[in-house]
Amino acid sequence: IPVEDFDLVIFGGTGDLARRKILPALFRRFQAGQMTPESRIVGAARSEMDSAGYRKDVRAALEEFLDKDRPKAEIDDFLERIDYVAVDATGDGGWDELSKLLRKGVTRAFYFSVAPSLFGALAERLHQHGCAGPKCRIVVEKPFGRDLHSARELNKTLRDHFSENQIYRIDHYLGKETVQNLMAVRFGNVLFEPLWNAHYVDHVQITVAESVGVDGRGAYYDKSGAMRDMVQNHLMQLLCLTAMEPPARFSPDAVRDEKLKVIRALEAVPPADIVRGQYVSKSKGESYLDQVEDPGSRTESFVAMKLQVSNWRWAGTPFYLRTGKRLKARHTEIAVIFKDAPHSIFGQSLGRHRNVLAIRLQPNEGMDLFVTIKEPGPGGMRLVDVPLDMTFADALGPDAADVPDAYERLIMDVIRGDQTLFMRGDEVEAAWAWTDPIIEGWEDTGDRPKTYEVDSTGPEEAAMLLHREGRRWREIAN
Ligand code: BG6
Repeated sequence: IPVEDFDLVIFGGTGDLARRKILPALFRRFQAGQMTPESRIVGAARSEMDSAGYRKDVRAALEEFLDKDRPKAEIDDFLERIDYVAVDATGDGGWDELSKLLRKGVTRAFYFSVAPSLFGALAERLHQHGCAGPKCRIVVEKPFGRDLHSARELNKTLRDHFSENQIYRIDHYLGKETVQNLMAVRFGNVLFEPLWNAHYVDHVQITVAESVGVDGRGAYYDKSGAMRDMVQNHLMQLLCLTAMEPPARFSPDAVRDEKLKVIRALEAVPPADIVRGQYVSKSKGESYLDQVEDPGSRTESFVAMKLQVSNWRWAGTPFYLRTGKRLKARHTEIAVIFKDAPHSIFGQSLGRHRNVLAIRLQPNEGMDLFVTIKEPGPGGMRLVDVPLDMTFADALGPDAADVPDAYERLIMDVIRGDQTLFMRGDEVEAAWAWTDPIIEGWEDTGDRPKTYEVDSTGPEEAAMLLHREGRRWREIAN
């Protein structure tokens, strides 16, 4: 279904994010028939160039970043919707031209795909030059601050010019199909919700394992580390959706209110419940320290931790989070590990059998529900755990394998004016308020990450975090 007419301006239109994610996502939505014939995209950046030059760049980006087997026949039609204006974010150049290009009475979205230090200048100029109207929205990306103080400043800067319901803070994890499926599974079935609490759940594991390293992003990453880059945002969002109370409606503030309560219920994490790691390799140039500027860097490329959500639903059920780069596989999942059956009628010798619901975010999006059954054969009552495997591509047909990229969903939500899958300002601040003391603790004590081999599952100490409590991490494998 086409969304309404829109003018979308991408500040930073020649940058990496625009080329890699935003433009390919727009093209795919165009192919899907969601862009009305009147809708336009305007690239805006510092470089002097005309629209024809920009269209050439966009074509090159699509050729590089679209899936290889995606039909490209419509690229020419798509390019006709695209213009370019050279604007000076901190000066006056280009703004009148931009304002002339924008149509009256049409939804306007401004994508700030630029450094956060420019947000204020852009917001101010949009108003000065009459570009911002009541139907206008702005989209901002992470990093949204690097601590509570800077996040508050950023929120203030944006709110000086726009109201909260015009600000769309992207966490691309919220746009992932399976993340939304987590809500469908929880709140669309009667099967799980009655068991979704500390009475029945032994613990929860959230794993975001990446096989890639910091690669060309060493300069940015070394100033962030896994805690700021992944935990404060993506893992926190996954935790919130897993732990939150059922919202009354699937509406922006109802969902975001519930997520916020989870963050506020998090207890401070003692140092003994966190393990930081940094990858090392025997191959030259492959260790973390070879890929960043500071040879003595103490930044973590891995973090594992045990969290307690202090509320009636979850008191006593730990949430274990881990994420890291250069691990043995790309594997993102949320696993809910249920408690043992209260009594075994089959005797003690049968070992431990537990129901597990594993929601696979990527790759092979789907769910496994492990149930205990009798092993076939005459050997008596031997129990075995088998997965009820719901690989979405198998269950829903080949179309389900063509999972839309998170950005496709999120950009269209901006145009529709639906903020459900975007972070509200108070959520971001609460997440930083929880993260700050952890990072400050490391800085104060000069904490050094443990090393782990590339292509492993992380430092030994991360395994110990669970072993010491008689638990273990699920396999990292795809
Ligand atoms: C980004 C992080 O937000 O998410 C990257 O900055 C990380 O370091 C990426 O690699 C992971 O996203 P995805 O969608 O590939 O899981």
